Amino acid sequence: MEPAGLQPADVEQAREAEEPPGSPALPTEASQDGPPAAAPPGQGALPERERVRRRAGAQGSAGRAARGRARRAPGRRSGGENARRPEVTVDTSKAKTSLEALKISLRQLRWKEFPFGRRLPCDIYWHGVSFHDNNIFSGQVNKFPGMMETVRKITLSRAMRTMQDLFPLEYNFYPRSWILPEELSLFVAEVRMIKDSNPSWKPTFIVKPDGGCQGDGIYLIKDPSDIRLTGSIQSRPAVVQEYICKPLLMDKLKFDIRLYVLLKSLEPLEIYIAKDGLSRFCTEPYQEPTLKNLHQVFMHLTNYSLNIHSGNFIHSDSVNTGSKRTFSSILCRLSSRGADVKKLWSDIISLVIKTIIALTPELKVYYQSDIPAGKPGPTCFQILGFDILLLKNLKPVLLEVNANPSMRIEHEQELSPGVFENVPSPVDEEVKVAVIRDTLRLVDPQKKKRKDTQ
Ligand SMILES: Nc1ncnc2c1ncn2[C@@H]1O[C@H](COP(=O)(O)OP(=O)(O)O)[C@@H](O)[C@H]1O
Ligand SMILES: [Mg+2]
Repeated sequence: MEPAGLQPADVEQAREAEEPPGSPALPTEASQDGPPAAAPPGQGALPERERVRRRAGAQGSAGRAARGRARRAPGRRSGGENARRPEVTVDTSKAKTSLEALKISLRQLRWKEFPFGRRLPCDIYWHGVSFHDNNIFSGQVNKFPGMMETVRKITLSRAMRTMQDLFPLEYNFYPRSWILPEELSLFVAEVRMIKDSNPSWKPTFIVKPDGGCQGDGIYLIKDPSDIRLTGSIQSRPAVVQEYICKPLLMDKLKFDIRLYVLLKSLEPLEIYIAKDGLSRFCTEPYQEPTLKNLHQVFMHLTNYSLNIHSGNFIHSDSVNTGSKRTFSSILCRLSSRGADVKKLWSDIISLVIKTIIALTPELKVYYQSDIPAGKPGPTCFQILGFDILLLKNLKPVLLEVNANPSMRIEHEQELSPGVFENVPSPVDEEVKVAVIRDTLRLVDPQKKKRKDTQ
């Protein structure tokens, strides 16, 4: 596979610096900030980030924001200059499951890791869960206060509804959703109304518990009366959402995309999108939902954590086969079938920017409460995981936003009955190490200092 030429990097709408198609942009990128020897072989195929920087004050207009421009990451510096740089220090003591990928990234950058914390302040603090994992008063933290609350299923649905009311066409990438239990009667009434006006409408709905993840507690229904309001999981607040019945299939299987997005700053709003992500495949051939197959999770839910338990799950060391592949390998296949992958990528960029714009007001409230202006405190950045489904016509649909996308680069393998071992997952490693390493480069405090003194 040769992804460099097929990467959707040259989306005209979101691009400032063009490069000829097929140019080896990535080997250059892989050696940007570190000495060339620091990048291991194969790193040339790692994704680069698109930078989408909105000018301050433009937040009122989603349309204008969506036309934000992307820039290529800054250019290569000489090895001599790099040698004189003081080391960037990173506290990894709270990194939890990101630790492996973080360690590899730090080694590649030749930055200094503090696995047990440090008495002196560090430049960067890498938290595994939230901003509050530790009390930090300086430097940069890889979590925003309130992010987990802001992207929960109910809060996200509320924020999207507000924007859908204001800009219905701009925000038509999020399925119609209702909040349970408070909007149960509204849900029932609206569905009845639509069915009355359009008797051929035979919808399916997906119920997702608020704060759930990994497919936990999710179920499909055909009729609003099938909502389960009793039982421990079912009585939790939830979102009920129109189910996308005709997703794009590959090898007859449903799949979704996990895309990594860096929110580098809230004010001014700075968003980067990783060029490569993961595609997670179902493990049973897809059929449109019927009462008979509604409960078949391996057919309808793409979560890795569920499908790994199917006998059909295929672990593959290759990025373009198996049940977990790179997104670039999907684009590659779509492109070879003549699909307009530039348009798809540009639609994905718009979806990401508009979603973050919808979340920004709430995030700012949390930010100002935890890090009041004028008081000493850290600055924040965060990697988000966007779950996106493609329709048959390649339109991207947002399913959810994850505040803590898994950064694991290993998976469990059963060596013999009951004996498990963690083995490396090359697909995860390729994508996630690049995401973390490029994030670190983008928040490099030395780069900021140099910029400030220029
Ligand atoms: N509206 C929808 N239409 C079709 N499939 C959906 C929809 N929402 C979710 N799914 C499927 O269910 C999976 C889990 O949903 P998601 O919202 O990502 O919740 P979780 O936090 O449990 O991962 C998705 O990865 C996707 O395969
Ligand atoms: Mg998900």
